[in-house]
Formats: sequence, C-alpha cells, structure tokens
Amino acid sequence: MVDTNPRIWAFGGGKGGVGKSLVATNVGVALAKRGHRCALIDADLGGANLHTLVGGVDSKRTLSDFLERRVRRLEEVVAPTRIPRLSLLSGARALFESPNLKHYQKQSLLRQLKSLGFELVLLDLAAGSSFSTLDFFLSADREILVVVPEPTSVENAYHFLKAAFYRKLKTAARRAGVEPAVKQAMQERASRGIKSPRELIASVCDIDPAAGGWLQEEIDGFRPRLIVNQVRSPSEATLGRDMKRACRDYLGIEIEFIGAIASDGTVRRALQERRPSMVLFPTSPFSSSIQKITDKLLEGRRPSAQQDQLSEDFRVLGLEPGCRLADVISAHRRLKKLYSNPSLATFSEIDEKTRSANLARVEEASRRILLEVSGAIPVADLR
Ligand SMILES: Nc1ncnc2c1ncn2[C@@H]1O[C@H](COP(=O)(O)OP(=O)(O)O)[C@@H](O)[C@H]1O
Ligand SMILES: [Mg+2]
Repeated sequence: MVDTNPRIWAFGGGKGGVGKSLVATNVGVALAKRGHRCALIDADLGGANLHTLVGGVDSKRTLSDFLERRVRRLEEVVAPTRIPRLSLLSGARALFESPNLKHYQKQSLLRQLKSLGFELVLLDLAAGSSFSTLDFFLSADREILVVVPEPTSVENAYHFLKAAFYRKLKTAARRAGVEPAVKQAMQERASRGIKSPRELIASVCDIDPAAGGWLQEEIDGFRPRLIVNQVRSPSEATLGRDMKRACRDYLGIEIEFIGAIASDGTVRRALQERRPSMVLFPTSPFSSSIQKITDKLLEGRRPSAQQDQLSEDFRVLGLEPGCRLADVISAHRRLKKLYSNPSLATFSEIDEKTRSANLARVEEASRRILLEVSGAIPVADLR
C-alpha cells in the first residue's frame, strides 16, 4: 500500500468519563461522511470501548494481537464499520498489566499506521498521564484535550498538559543535545523558584541561552486544542476561554479553544442503541457541535482574516478582546438601546440611516463574539 502519511489526531485529557471516546468516534463519523478515509484507533488499552460506541463492528483481531505479536501486520487488525470510509482498530480485550508500552511497540504501531492508506487517523487515548498515553498524544499532528466543567477535570487537564510539556521538553532536549542545561535547571528547581513550564524555560535560558532559545522554539510548536464537553450553561462554556488564558499566563503554554459541546439527552439514547449520535441524531445540538469542531480541526488555526474580524467586533462594542462575557452582554445591551430608537443622546447627531447601520453592526459584532466565546454552541441554544 502507498505511504500516504495520514494526519494523526489524538484525543486525551487526563480524566476518564469526560467524553474522549464519544467525541473521537463522532468526529470520525463526521469526517467519513465528508468523504475522508479515516481510522479510529482504540488506544485505551485498559478500557477499550470504541467498538461499542461505533457499533456493529465485527473485529476478529485487536491491537493486543498486534502488540503481543500474534499478528505481524497492523493491517490485519483493521475492521470496516457500518459507516463507509470509517475503519476501526479495536483496543485490547484483555486488561494490560501496565498501560506503558515498550518504545519499540509504540514505534512499530506508529510506523505501520502510516502505511495503511488512511487520510486521517484518530487516536482515542486512555485516561491518565502514563508515558504511553503522553507519547501517543505528542506523536499527533493535532493534540486534542477534552475537559468537562468540573474542578477535578480541569485539575487533571492541567496536570496532563504539564506532564505532556515536560515529556516533550525532555525528548526535545535529548534530540538537540542540550540535556545538561535542562537537568541543571530541574535540579535547581527549588532554589530557582521554578513552578511552571514557563519558569523552567526561563531558567534554561539563564543557564544556556542557546539551549533555552532552541527549546522555546520547539515548545512554541506545542499547541493543544481544547474542547469543553458536557456544558450545561453559557457561563460553563466560557471555561474554554478562561483555561486558554490560564495556560498562557501560568504555564506558558498556548492552547486553542475549539469549541464547547452541550450535555445532550440524545447522546444517551444513541449509546443505548449502540450507534453514533452523528448517525442517529445528525441534527442534534451534540452533532452540530461535533460538525463545527471537525471544521476547526480540519482548518487548523483560525485564518487571520477571521481573527481581524473579531478584533474589529470588539472595537465596535468598545471592548478589549478577552474581556468578560458579562461585559459583552452589557455593552451589547447599552449600544442596542442607544441605536434602537432615536434617543435623547443621538437624535440631533445621527441621521436615521447611520443609526440603523450602527445598530446592525452592533448586533452582528455581538453575535460573532458570543459565538466565539461560547465555542461551538450558538448562545441561543443554551438559554
Ligand atoms: N455531550 C454529552 N452529552 C451527554 N452525555 C455525554 C456527553 N459527553 C459524554 N457523555 C456521557 O459520558 C460518558 C463517558 O464518555 P466517554 O466518551 O466514554 O468518556 P472517556 O472516553 O473520556 O472516558 C458517555 O458514555 C456519556 O454517557
Ligand atoms: Mg474512553
């Protein structure tokens, strides 16, 4: 088969039960429906369940057969699903003693994945921050973090991000031969007051500026995408934006918030029927959010034209980008009142045409900002 070098998207996030498998499966269905040939890989070796989420898969071989060398070629593990263009590589059936795979097992899995002829490969990762999970996460072209608006999930996500960051740093340092500076900084952690990845890099820069600069560049390429799942109110949806800011300020890690997904009753009904929500309820709020998230993952970083538009929208409302949701709502209310009817403040200064044009701009700007702040959920759906 041809080596098509598929793009790898990995779904991780530290905590179990947040929706990694559910989101990965449905993004896979969305991609297949759009014509992409893709594979879902159940890399949760301790708690494999993708075969149930996808439904109707008759996989005779699993990844454990490959990893334990009962089959030599990964191709033999690939099973078709009921959804055209979507294949599944089932996870291990037997519980692994340790979720940490040997280096050669991971390498051989990743190497063979590239020769299967898929355009996209979606890795559904286990909960936790084991080295295997971190390595699969870091091997991906898109590192996707799933959280729910609960303190334990957020805490786990930060822990996972830091663990991934340090693992990436270590590998990068080894590859560049700059380990001594990193090691020294780590050893002097307490005396140097290093508490975050950002401070670690700064210390490496002090010790060896060239090594620090090189690592910084390497780490700049680390830009995990964040999904906030099981959202029940608009204020919960702002967690994505808040976490993005906290990651930048406290960890020195840039993440990109790519959307929120509402907690949706149809999800459970689809699970009971063992069919993906994207198949049974393609227009549900859950499926609409999955579509928008899939768009964002495909397009990569937001085009700058869109970013410019958003800065302009904040300017129209007289706000700074990154302000609080409450500020957006009150600016919208105030300006709407100002431009809605000829008011005492505007009647002598603004003609009718300008007034209604201003009102339209305010409405349009508020709509775009609220949509951005709440992620993939149209704000109206949450009211
Ligand atoms: N958006 C959602 N709406 C409703 N229920 C959800 C949603 N996301 C996840 N769930 C529930 O959470 C459960 C755990 O999801 P799962 O994908 O298995 O988590 P993980 O893979 O992170 O352990 C699902 O079985 C489902 O019942
Ligand atoms: Mg799972």
